[in-house]
Parts: sequence; C-alpha cells; structure tokens
Amino acid sequence: MNDFHKHIIITGAAGFIGSSLVDCLLKSGNYTISCIDNFDDFYDLNIKRKNISAFENHANIKFFDIDIRNREHIHENLCDDYDMIVHLAAKAGVRPSIAEPDLYSQVNVLGTLNLLDFAKEKHIKTFIFASSSSVYGVNPDVPWNETSALMPVSPYAATKIAGEYLGYTYSKLYDIRFIALRFFTVYGPKQRPDLAIHKFTKLISENQPITLYGNGETFRDYTFIDDILSGIMAAMNYDKTMFEIINLGNNRTVSLSELVSAIENATCKKAIIQFDKLHPADAPLTFADISKAKRLLNYNPETQLKSGIEKFYEWYINI
Ligand SMILES: NC(=O)c1ccc[n+]([C@@H]2O[C@H](COP(=O)([O-])OP(=O)(O)OC[C@H]3O[C@@H](n4cnc5c(N)ncnc54)[C@H](O)[C@@H]3O)[C@@H](O)[C@H]2O)c1
Repeated sequence: MNDFHKHIIITGAAGFIGSSLVDCLLKSGNYTISCIDNFDDFYDLNIKRKNISAFENHANIKFFDIDIRNREHIHENLCDDYDMIVHLAAKAGVRPSIAEPDLYSQVNVLGTLNLLDFAKEKHIKTFIFASSSSVYGVNPDVPWNETSALMPVSPYAATKIAGEYLGYTYSKLYDIRFIALRFFTVYGPKQRPDLAIHKFTKLISENQPITLYGNGETFRDYTFIDDILSGIMAAMNYDKTMFEIINLGNNRTVSLSELVSAIENATCKKAIIQFDKLHPADAPLTFADISKAKRLLNYNPETQLKSGIEKFYEWYINI
C-alpha cells in the first residue's frame, strides 16, 4: 500500500449515491473500500444488486451485509485499519419518515452513533456524513447558507440534524475530522425510484398521470450526481479544520413545472398532470448558497438541469 493508498469504509454502498461514489473512487486506483449495506427494502433490491454489480468482485472491494443499527456486527466484521468513513447509509425519504419515525431514528441516529463509536475506538481520523437540505425545512429565507436557521418539518430531517450534532460532539471529544455535507436533491443515473425525476420520467414515458403537489409552484435546487461526487471527494481530501458543515447544491432553484417541462423535452412526451395540495413534510422551496463549498472545497457544479435530465434519461432507457 503506497502513501496515497487509503483504506476507507463507505456505508450505503449499494444505494444511489454510495454505489456511484464507489465506482468513481475505484477508477482513481487509490482506495481499498469496505462497503457496508444491509440491502434495506425501501426500494427494489434488484436495483441495489445492479448498482453494485460492476464492482462487487473488484480486488479492492470488500462487501459487508451489515445493519448499522447492530453495533456488535460492525465491530465483529470490520478490521482495525481504516483511514476514513464516508457514511451515506440512511433511511432516506422525507414523507415515509412521518409514518415510521422510530425506524428513521434507529437507522439514522443510532446507526450514525454506532459508526462514530467505531471511528473513536479504531482511531479513524476522518468521518464524512451525508446530511440533507431538508434540515432547513420551511425556512423562507433563501438561498440558505450553513448558518441559516434550521426549521425541519419531517422526522427524517430531524435525524440528519441529530447526526450533525453527534458528529460535532465526537469531533470535539475524540479528534475526529467530521464533515457534514448537506446534499440538495441529487439526481442522475441510478437515482432512487422514489424521487421525483425518476418517478415522473417513468410515468410520463408510460403515458401515466403524474401528481404535482403544491400546484407545480414548489421549487427545488437539483444537483447532478457527478457534481455531488466531486464535492464528496473534495471533502475526503479536506484537511484544514476539524468540523465543518457544507452545502452541496447547484445554486439554482427550479419550479416543479419547469422540471416537468425538462422531462417532457427529454422523453418527447406530454405529461398528464394532476394537482394536489402540498404535503406538510415537504418544503415549498430549497435553494443552496454554495459559497462555502466553493471556498473550502473548490466545488463548482457544472451540470445544468437540461443536460442532467438528458443524461438521466439516457441511463433510464437502457436499464
Ligand atoms: N438522494 C438525495 O437527493 C439525497 C439528498 C439529501 C441527502 N441524501 C442522503 O444521502 C445518503 C445517500 O442517499 P441515496 O439517495 O443514495 O439513498 P439510497 O437509499 O439509495 O442509499 C442508502 C443506502 O443505505 C442502505 N441502508 C439503509 N438502512 C441501512 C442500515 N440499517 N444498515 C446499513 N445500510 C442501510 C440502503 O440499503 C441503501 O442502499 C443518505 O444518507 C441520504 O439521506 C440524499
């Protein structure tokens, strides 16, 4: 193992962002990766199996089917020698967290605590944490920077805030570098099927109606997966301070109606639209101030919605 070769843990490695990150890191040749995922059934397991198919037998990959709620399982299966944890595993999804707050809390809070404890015991120096724009919730003051008030409106968002605070505490107590990245709606190839772009693309392609909550006048800052990956990798190399929270967004907010038009253009189909009122767990608007990410990580998102949707659709029609 040379000086630049790192042994890292990636949790949630069978998921959308996790498997995309593993793919990307393997190309650099600088990493041995212990992948953790419990193949949670939040969405079709065949998608997760497919996500890992390109790398599961790679010489630099070890795969562990571990539930992060199970502390013993983590300690029994993993070794002593890691440089970093990139913690992406979570119960994702805003609305489902209202029905199962206990489960979300177990996975996202206890699971994060178990991994921080593991980092403490094994003297792992760096911990990257997938947080979320949902922590800002219904804060009307946009664009949001990292000091904006947190007004979460879902148990999911609250668990992400808890993860950030646990990270702060462990960073202070045990000298672990902890970087929380607040992702803003991530999309692109492999995107989760429950998320709007994937769901709408499927329904519009099949001439099925789509439902727009909030009359199409909600706004999201959509971030293409490649831009998120470059932000994560920059955070993995960041070594200036011991604790940071950093927005990773695109710094452009797009209305739901504009999103649907972009999907209509990519699919060459007309959407059949139904309207419904906004769900109380949904934020009406997300919009990232990314000046901190630019300053600390040299983060510079490059993919605009039109080309990002086209890349997503190209992937979608080939699955
Ligand atoms: N996709 C987005 O737009 C977005 C936005 C903000 C934050 N995030 C965060 O980024 C991370 C990755 O999101 P994603 O979209 O790739 O989601 P995903 O659901 O595709 O990936 C999460 C992975 O975690 C695994 N997992 C769930 N519970 C587990 C457990 N108990 N033990 C081990 N593994 C478990 C799942 O099986 C899944 O493969 C999550 O933490 C999510 O909250 C995502």
